[in-house]
Amino acid sequence: MKTHRIAAIPGDGIGVEVIAAGIEVLEALARRDGSFGFAFDHFDWGSDYYKRTGLMMPADGREQIKDHDAIFFGAVGAPDVPDHVTLWGLRLAICQPFDQYANVRPTRVLPGITSPLRHVSGPELDWVIVRENSEGEYAGVGGRVHKGFPEEVATDVSMMTRHGVARIIRYAFRLAQSRPRKLLTVVTKSNAQRHAMVMWDEIAAEVATEFPDVAWDKMLVDAMTMRMVIKPSSLDTIVATNLHADILSDLAAALAGSLGIAPTANLNPERAFPSMFEPIHGSAFDIAGKGIANPIGTFWTATMMLDHLGEAAASARLMRAIERVTADPAFHTPDLGGKATTRAVTDAVIAAIAGDN
Ligand code: NAI
Ligand code: MG
Repeated sequence: MKTHRIAAIPGDGIGVEVIAAGIEVLEALARRDGSFGFAFDHFDWGSDYYKRTGLMMPADGREQIKDHDAIFFGAVGAPDVPDHVTLWGLRLAICQPFDQYANVRPTRVLPGITSPLRHVSGPELDWVIVRENSEGEYAGVGGRVHKGFPEEVATDVSMMTRHGVARIIRYAFRLAQSRPRKLLTVVTKSNAQRHAMVMWDEIAAEVATEFPDVAWDKMLVDAMTMRMVIKPSSLDTIVATNLHADILSDLAAALAGSLGIAPTANLNPERAFPSMFEPIHGSAFDIAGKGIANPIGTFWTATMMLDHLGEAAASARLMRAIERVTADPAFHTPDLGGKATTRAVTDAVIAAIAGDN
């Protein structure tokens, strides 16, 4: 029997609650399938670890997880630790050195969920956003001088490399090609930002010649927000920079009903390093500890992890179970306007897995 070695890093707040639920669901799938299993290693890294040790993860943290088949990640962030410390100390400290340059974010309106868009009932909104995840606006280049004095200067410099841009655009074309509509939208801001963003447009046109069967178009990011709301069915696969796609994917999650549903994968497509799978949402300390976090985003994330691990049948089974459960409003958590608990939704998904043929 195949055993997948997974590094579980729940992190902070509701990250702990949803990852525990996700592990239960994955174990149920392995039992139902019978041909594979999981070995989970648990890492208590995050803000509590930081308060004890001054670090978000141990100095050899990446060494400890570099040979796992995948990383199952919750969220980081605590009210009493600055967000740039938690983010750079753990999540980005894994994504960047492990070269997880493709951040993939599917968005659909699941059965039973109401989109805030009046004319969307389901099939009109079916997107995958591909976010550049290794450089650009979040490259970490910049600094502050004369700190605290009136003459203080601060810079965040966006770094775009031809190599980095070409690989993410090529990844997006390949993904678009694998989907039925074979349609890609390349998002930039190449009117106002006339150097790196113009290079994006040029590289997109070059890479497009390798994919004659994919239809593609270009959008400026501001106009893109309008198109997502007004003509959602005109979009399928979308590629954008680190910052732009970060913002667009929160909008996408809201249009699909709730941030609590949205999944993401941080992929190193060459598999030189483990990839990392996480719900899009953060640690949500406003609801942490109440048992009402929506675990669906984590379950959907788990389907992406299963696909990456080569367990396509189990991934499809989990997606069917998720859709059966979201279709019933009795299993909607408060973020979806319901009263269900994390426990109830998890149990319902496990029951749907057991009952799936
Ligand atoms: P958030 O995603 O934690 O929460 C935003 C809103 O959505 C809150 O009202 C929350 O209750 C709700 N929400 C989020 N996930 C939910 C779920 N699964 N079920 C039900 N409701 C859910 O974003 P926020 O409040 O901006 O940030 C809180 C902390 O999380 C901050 O420290 C931030 O830096 C961190 N964060 C971490 C991320 C990560 O680890 N990848 C991503 C986003 C934020
Ligand atoms: Mg975000």
